[in-house]
Amino acid sequence: MKKRIILAVVLCGMLTSGAYIWADCAEHKAAAQKKDAGRQKVVDGIRNIGMSTPAADTMLLRMLIQAKKSQRGIEVGTAVGFGSVNMGIGFERTGGHLYGVEISEKMVAESRANIKKAGLEKTVTIIQGDALKVLPKLEGKYDFMFIDAVKKDYFKYFKAVEDKLTPGAMVVGHNAIASGKAMQDWLDYMKKHPDWEIVMVKATRGMAVCYKVR
Ligand SMILES: C[S@@+](CC[C@H](N)C(=O)[O-])C[C@H]1O[C@@H](n2cnc3c(N)ncnc32)[C@H](O)[C@@H]1O
Repeated sequence: MKKRIILAVVLCGMLTSGAYIWADCAEHKAAAQKKDAGRQKVVDGIRNIGMSTPAADTMLLRMLIQAKKSQRGIEVGTAVGFGSVNMGIGFERTGGHLYGVEISEKMVAESRANIKKAGLEKTVTIIQGDALKVLPKLEGKYDFMFIDAVKKDYFKYFKAVEDKLTPGAMVVGHNAIASGKAMQDWLDYMKKHPDWEIVMVKATRGMAVCYKVR
């Protein structure tokens, strides 16, 4: 009899704590969904400047970041931060950080404001300056790079950080189909290099998605 009472008390305790955990998880999920909805509003409100990365392309970037649990990313050419915010959501989920480089002071101010509105200021840092000067000075290693500035300079941007890209790094070159000729030197290099795999993805204006094998 005594044993049965003890067993019933233990079972009751387990059921109650299980219910608490379930309620806590449901609450956590609801809060995360609310945060995502708020962020989506910020994304939808970002000024369309005509040269922002298309939404579908930024979603692909975010998914790549999340799938490979990227920790340190670089964006070359941030504009008003449409891509930064979308990628930043991915980096927040992986616990990583994104560094955007943008030459225009006006765009930097607007991108920083958008990043703040999205609550991503701890995850995304925008550096103002010419990427050709800023990139060689970046410290540490990186496992993700999105190149989206002057098309004929993609090879130069890549070369500036090549030694800092870790095995397993991904580099995505935007507009790689529509503006392929302008960045042919970079595309040829990636195609021939034994350490890199490359695929051309027909997302809107085309993306060259590259993976560092070793
Ligand atoms: C196509 S837009 C970038 C769009 C952005 N990636 C997005 O997701 O919306 C190209 C940007 O590159 C910037 N840019 C051009 N040359 C640059 C350079 N040398 N260094 C840094 N940024 C540069 C331009 O000012 C412009 O804002």
